[in-house]
Amino acid sequence: MTDLKWWQTAIFYQIYPRSFADGNGDGSGDFPGMIAKLDYLQALGVNAIWLSPHFPSPNWDCGYDISDYCGVAPEYGTLADFRRFLDGLHQRGMRLILDLVLNHTSDEHPWFLESKSSRDNPKADWYVWADTPPNNWQSCFDGEAWTYTPERGQYYYHYFMQQQPDLNWHSPAVKQAMWDAARFWLELGVDGFRLDAIGTIYEDPDLTPHDAPVNLAELRRLSETASTPAEIQRKDKYWEDLFRHQIGQPGLHALMKELRAVVDEYPGDRMLVGEDEDIAYLGEGEDELNIVFNFPLMRADRITPDHIRRNQRERLALLDELPVRGWPCNTLGNHDSSRISTRFGDREHEVELARLNAALVLTLRGTPFLYNGEEIGMTDLIITEPGQLRDTMAVWYHQQMIADLGVDPAEAALRAGEMTRDKNRTPFQWADAPNGGFCPPGVQPWLPVNPDFSAGVNAADQETDPDSFLNYYRRLIAVRKASPALTGGEYQPLDEHAKDYFAFLRTTDDQTVLVALNYASKPVQNTAPLPGSILRKLFSSHHRPADTAAGDLSLAPFEVYIAEVGR
Ligand code: NOJ
Ligand code: CA
Repeated sequence: MTDLKWWQTAIFYQIYPRSFADGNGDGSGDFPGMIAKLDYLQALGVNAIWLSPHFPSPNWDCGYDISDYCGVAPEYGTLADFRRFLDGLHQRGMRLILDLVLNHTSDEHPWFLESKSSRDNPKADWYVWADTPPNNWQSCFDGEAWTYTPERGQYYYHYFMQQQPDLNWHSPAVKQAMWDAARFWLELGVDGFRLDAIGTIYEDPDLTPHDAPVNLAELRRLSETASTPAEIQRKDKYWEDLFRHQIGQPGLHALMKELRAVVDEYPGDRMLVGEDEDIAYLGEGEDELNIVFNFPLMRADRITPDHIRRNQRERLALLDELPVRGWPCNTLGNHDSSRISTRFGDREHEVELARLNAALVLTLRGTPFLYNGEEIGMTDLIITEPGQLRDTMAVWYHQQMIADLGVDPAEAALRAGEMTRDKNRTPFQWADAPNGGFCPPGVQPWLPVNPDFSAGVNAADQETDPDSFLNYYRRLIAVRKASPALTGGEYQPLDEHAKDYFAFLRTTDDQTVLVALNYASKPVQNTAPLPGSILRKLFSSHHRPADTAAGDLSLAPFEVYIAEVGR
């Protein structure tokens, strides 16, 4: 364990600042709120925070449209508040990484305002301009990818929404400006960055048109209605065809190397994690990013033992092939995806399955990333009133459905509520109190609070209940942190044909730990994973004795069992 870096042994926790904690009582999260929750984070046991964008932003994409890379959004506080938060984390032995959005800025960023002001200003080439739309490319958020500006009489390119113009990364001045912004935060002491949407940074230099037979709105609609394997395959192919010339283009690896060199100028093993699953971003192992997410693990309707084993076999083999062995990174949820409890539940055993999946992420080999709220079992909230949507992508799609696709308004409202990311971004539920204790009574939170706060899904009630979600997460986190094998050990699957349960070992020279996760609603009888050994309980979601003979292991329905293997 000693030769592992801090980001390999850390458990990361993503804070979505608008929804985490409201310190000044205006209905939106902020730094004073986060500072007030530092002890909560420490008690949870996580040791690194990924903070979603906290920069000034017109909030067309909830902070992912940045208008000042070196500032703090006024609704979140001041730079002094930011420093207090960072210091508070460091004093408690926790690290902080920020969200670095490289592909695009806000259309209100001074760089863009200057760039669009004329064709010959000093920043004229900082964005991607064309006299007429050179192709049929789509924005992945809101239709056409080229938008006209009268000031310049030209069109600019945006992979995301029109308020998010793409920077021209072929310009050395753009690189310089962005690396300076990164240095600003590194000098303040942040421990690294999560890199947003890196795959979208460069475009096909030939601007080749896409050949998908559908536009974005039609494809979204097709994706909702696809049910047969052939339909599903077809819509997957269309998604690929639609965007193939706008992502994963040459130049990315050289750019990531440059950024890594910037980060490596600073002491203390600052780190980079890419919002991508492609292990090519790890370069030769030590010259690009430190980790990328194992997104294929969460790309499933249900997490099953077969799915996990296949995922681990493929993922770990890929990482092992790198010249310097790659380090895994697992997650099952973030601000862009349906919450774990909802997404991987079966509507009958949501709680049990969410607990199993938490145990999975916290016992697999690799750095775990948790998403705020999952530790109290927060679920998706479907917003059925379109006027309450804050996710612009869903607002646009809702309008398209009605105006262009002729969808019935009631169905359109439901579809928008289901597809929007608002459902998994609702305010954190701190107590069984008005607004879930997020903001004062009578204040309207920026998104509706999930009413299940009054049914026990809140941190205060769970604090005192030893069997709560919160205390379950705390115990699991503590077990992982105390175990060298769970933190850094090798992975070895057991009972590889078992359909109902997933059992595996994590091993170092000094410790072997068995993890057994029963994904079935029925007991598993007498599995014999390790004949002749004694299992010493480190954790069980059920009541079981301290020691069990490993030749005689039974698991209760949905049991999570973690044990040190001894003789
Ligand atoms: C990925 C972020 O996670 C998402 O929330 C955002 O909308 C896009 N990138 C654009 O920045
Ligand atoms: Ca606030």
